[in-house]
Amino acid sequence: MAIIILAIESSCDETSASVCIDGKIVSNSIANQTIHQNYGGVVPELASRVHQQNIIPTVHQAISDAKINKNQIQAVAFTRGPGLLGSLLVGVSFAKAFALGLNIPLIEVNHVQAHVLAHFIAPKNTENYSPPIFPFLCLTVSGGHTQIVLVKNYFDMEIIGQTLDDAAGEAFDKTAKILGLPYPGGPLIDKYAQLGEPSTYSFTEPNIPDLNFSFSGLKTAILYFVRDNIKKNPDFLAQNINNICASVQERIVSILLNKLKKAAQQYQISHIAIAGGVSANSGLRQALNAEAKKNNWTVYIPDFQYCTDNAAMIAIAGHYKYLNNDFVGQDITPQARITF
Ligand code: KG4
Ligand code: ZN
Repeated sequence: MAIIILAIESSCDETSASVCIDGKIVSNSIANQTIHQNYGGVVPELASRVHQQNIIPTVHQAISDAKINKNQIQAVAFTRGPGLLGSLLVGVSFAKAFALGLNIPLIEVNHVQAHVLAHFIAPKNTENYSPPIFPFLCLTVSGGHTQIVLVKNYFDMEIIGQTLDDAAGEAFDKTAKILGLPYPGGPLIDKYAQLGEPSTYSFTEPNIPDLNFSFSGLKTAILYFVRDNIKKNPDFLAQNINNICASVQERIVSILLNKLKKAAQQYQISHIAIAGGVSANSGLRQALNAEAKKNNWTVYIPDFQYCTDNAAMIAIAGHYKYLNNDFVGQDITPQARITF
């Protein structure tokens, strides 16, 4: 009998549901929240309210896209954390009720591990997909996390470097806010950067020990840079937005790649992956491919749809946990802060 898993993701501002049959993603429905655009970041209370409105239609859509009947589902996987507690509560409560109603088991999934495991989703219409080979390094860069993870097996992962303050996605989003751009700013900075010259402005690379990162100094440098230039020319931002975005993006990407290179050397690993929302960034993808050529790396870059938050990555993680008989009971609670 085929293994059919329903997965729910609600850790931040995306409500998503996915169905996975025998390790293949057959649907991935995502409801984005636009309500946060004018606030410069996700407003937790608003996010949980919108999750409540979206969760039933999103699950319904995923089940209907998968062309299955809900009674065929054998387990419900859900994001337990890390994330916003109110948002997580909506997904976890829904998953528990759904599993109870159908008398099927529950599978808890760590959101950040799931970003890494998104690499095991075969892209659509690909016959012979080759997922990463263990051990590999994964640079997980999202709005909440910036980590270099040594991936020894599906659920045997070690964080070997991480941010000491802001995440890379936050660096993009906070820069966007300073530049007067709406949330989430990462995709917009990416778009403007493609039209600009990255060497126009120079922002210092922080000197952080080991494999760790820091982005708060860069944010402050950008704030002062913009303030000083606007004093001299009130139209500075409008006239130079492409070059500013290109220069900031180049610095964020170089901070990330320099640590990734260091990790690859230190651990003697040449299989390198990127994951999380920021892995959708075109500058990061190009720079990673260029480094791969220089260093003889094999790189793994997920499909755009599996970079940002989605339930397909929760479903694939759920599939491997199902194979391990790794289930949890109805007493499970969400956890805003968990690691692995
Ligand atoms: O993984 P994700 O969807 O949610 C979290 O788990 O945080 O990542 C969202 C982050 C946001 O900070 C967003 O600005 C950033 O990913 N992002 C990008 C791009 N697309 C999304 N950053 C830079 N360039 C992009 N193209
Ligand atoms: Zn995420």
